Amino acid sequence: MQEYNKSMIKTGDLLIIGGGIAGLSAALEASKYGQVIILTKGKIGETATKSAQGGIAAAIDKLHDSADFHLEDTLAAGAGLCDEKAVRILVTEGVERVKELIEMGAQFDRAETEAGGGFALALEGAHKQRRILHAGDATGEEIQRTLGAKIVAENKVKICQQTIGIELIIKDNHCLGIKALDLVSGQTKVFLAKATIIATGGVGQTYLYTTNPEDATGDGIAMAYRAGAEVSDMEFVQFHPTSLVQSAEFKDIIALPRFLISEAVRGEGAKLLNNKGERFMDKYDIQKELAPRDIVSRAIFEEMKQTNSEHVFLSLAGINPEVIKKRFPMIYKTCLERGLDITKDNIPVAPAAHYFMGGITTDVDGKTNINGLYAAGECASLGVHGANRLASNSLLDGLVFGHRAALAAKIQLPTSTSSFLTGIQTHHPTSTSHLKPNEIQRFKLIIKSHMWKNVGIIRSKESLEQAKAMISSVEKQLNFEPGSKEEIELKNMVLVAKLITQAALERTESRGAHFRQDFPRTNNQNWQKHLTCKI
Ligand code: FAD
Ligand code: SIN
Repeated sequence: MQEYNKSMIKTGDLLIIGGGIAGLSAALEASKYGQVIILTKGKIGETATKSAQGGIAAAIDKLHDSADFHLEDTLAAGAGLCDEKAVRILVTEGVERVKELIEMGAQFDRAETEAGGGFALALEGAHKQRRILHAGDATGEEIQRTLGAKIVAENKVKICQQTIGIELIIKDNHCLGIKALDLVSGQTKVFLAKATIIATGGVGQTYLYTTNPEDATGDGIAMAYRAGAEVSDMEFVQFHPTSLVQSAEFKDIIALPRFLISEAVRGEGAKLLNNKGERFMDKYDIQKELAPRDIVSRAIFEEMKQTNSEHVFLSLAGINPEVIKKRFPMIYKTCLERGLDITKDNIPVAPAAHYFMGGITTDVDGKTNINGLYAAGECASLGVHGANRLASNSLLDGLVFGHRAALAAKIQLPTSTSSFLTGIQTHHPTSTSHLKPNEIQRFKLIIKSHMWKNVGIIRSKESLEQAKAMISSVEKQLNFEPGSKEEIELKNMVLVAKLITQAALERTESRGAHFRQDFPRTNNQNWQKHLTCKI
């Protein structure tokens, strides 16, 4: 076994991979009982959490709302695949966690009335009640700031930024920690802990068009799968209906996320128009613009096809311009910088990959099938969102289940870290790249384009088989140990893309976000179940 320089081995009680809402929520709880280390790929705060706009759902309005109503809406959006036990935990413990967040100093918009506990509660698609707490249209930034400030103030958590996890270290089906690459020094390091929580977020970057940040390459899911963890619901990718279709000068920058136009804008009354200027959602669903996301995304896709256009329009006509500027200051400003005055101009929008319902299989305490390994947040799959996540339930998921994973991990503490060193089999002190940057970009583009075109909003056996063949041909050319961040990400994207495609092929029905042109109906008799994916 290769010797490690002592300075390259870090030990703690709990290791958390990821510094978004799930990772920070876990860290706050775990730091009450042990030494916590957080690893983040980018700088701390560079997360999907930070870009969340619409808000966080919680039934805090005792007058008009209840946990049961929130549960009903979540189950309905989930299209028959939600785990009711997990949803009940989400909607009940969620209220407690949100109240704690407010006590920590999160500034959500207030209302003049006392109905929503004094908060201005918004409405979003498929919610029957106003229950979305928000901080203007930059809710994620406010939550990330609040949790981050608390962690910094307590000074109990060690944060290692710009450190990318490469592989989990597993011995006898027990997770001992992770091998990681320090992106500043270029050194490979080992982090050992009594328990590890993966909170690495989503997979949106496997698609050509996505709202997700550049780091959302599915690393945690890929690492866990390679280590022997079970993954499930991999076919369920949520496409947000309204991402801004950027003007020509932005078009080439494919890795950049598409800017989101929050669902809350439709919640305030914005209407969707096709290229002929016609409102169309009433043809597709009784809830029109506020139907569940999968329905609105498919409707837009269909209208784009019929009118041979790359987008439809979102019109805010009828909403008072002052209300728009006050309620959506960030969207207003960003669109203005890109040449659109949303108080006057229609916004060109199209669907983009947004959220992943699948991931590492866990129970409601974040436990995976590997001892000492937990997962929480977007990378985890516990059936809480079923086949289609209800808007603004994801931040709540990270907050609730990050906290629960940390509580569950507490019982791992008796294990000693001293025996861990014998579990380390390999060591690569410095990293070597194998591909040139342009080759990496080319492979990424192949994967992203095929996922978008063939494993996207509308799928079929034929399109999925085409994607499968293309992904395999890329995979064959990556037969080496990745040596750089870009190579690590590329290999993870390929594995995740392969798992999504395989699961989408296996589910021969349509349900929630998974739509098969060749099997357009929901088949409860055979398919009202979760799919564990193996390739
Ligand atoms: P993230 O917040 O994505 O954090 C992932 C962390 O993992 C990062 O720190 C990253 O650096 C780290 N990481 C990843 N890979 C590695 C690696 N290999 N090694 C080390 N670290 C790694 N949801 C809502 O409920 N309400 C909303 O209003 C809302 N709006 C959204 C708007 C946008 C534009 C987007 C993209 C998403 C939105 N969502 C919203 C979804 C929600 O923001 C995410 O699902 C949620 O924030 C995910 O949190 P997380 O903690 O699981 O992961
Ligand atoms: C949005 O603001 O539309 C995003 C909300 C979400 O993803 O839950």
